[in-house]
Amino acid sequence: MSGSGRLRVVGLGPGPADWRTPEADAALARASDVVGYAPYLERLALGPRQRRHVSDNREELLRARHALALAASGADVALVSGGDPGVFAMAAALIEAAEAGEPAWRTPDIEVLPGVGAMQAAAARLGAPLGHDFCAISLSDNLKPWEVVARRLGCAAEGDFVIALYNPASKARPKRIHDAFALLRSLKSGATPVAFARAVGRADERLTLTDLCAADPGLADMATLVVIGSSQTRWVAREGLRPWMLTPRCYGAGR
Ligand SMILES: C[S@@+](CC[C@H](N)C(=O)[O-])C[C@H]1O[C@@H](n2cnc3c(N)ncnc32)[C@H](O)[C@@H]1O
Repeated sequence: MSGSGRLRVVGLGPGPADWRTPEADAALARASDVVGYAPYLERLALGPRQRRHVSDNREELLRARHALALAASGADVALVSGGDPGVFAMAAALIEAAEAGEPAWRTPDIEVLPGVGAMQAAAARLGAPLGHDFCAISLSDNLKPWEVVARRLGCAAEGDFVIALYNPASKARPKRIHDAFALLRSLKSGATPVAFARAVGRADERLTLTDLCAADPGLADMATLVVIGSSQTRWVAREGLRPWMLTPRCYGAGR
């Protein structure tokens, strides 16, 4: 990278501005150029001298290359990403683009700034579903074959992990979440607690608490994180309040 250019991959968190880190806010305030998917840029109050570079959701590598080229030309670039940029997001796209690009793109003046991920935000709303071993699986078969997704779901069930399902459904992929539930129902108890955490932290947030047998996979959309418990996960009742979803820290112990 030449000149004084710099690039920060900034995690915006899953929704509200007060879930952004001070470090992320400082990088956004300082940036001359902000690059990202349109809905993420719409969430930001940028100044009149800050240039916006909007791109389509599926153009992650192009967006990353554009950000690298801007920084190489001396700009102070914030490449924004929803949630945590390292989880199914722009940090990997950026490093892939840098790896395949010019050696000067791999300089120390590129940093990934962490953010609150959907998984942590949903867990906080639900209680403590990730209190013991868990895994995160993206249900999207855009970037990997469905056979790989299905094998990982099977292994996660076999290993008795709590499963956080990202990208459960979209208009182009409405059926895979039904396939995933059919597979998990064949491998896990129907009484396993399940939560659909939709648009956590946003005005249209919706939490649906159910179990694997009764769950309606059709509730999941692009803004939903689905949490499927382990054999240890349970509901903790609260008088007049939503129960907590708990995966206790100690495996196999009674209450
Ligand atoms: C491409 S992934 C990006 C994940 C993001 N980097 C993160 O750390 O949360 C997009 C998926 O994250 C989940 N997601 C993002 N924001 C969410 C929110 N506010 N509530 C629930 N799930 C969310 C959904 O599963 C969505 O399909």
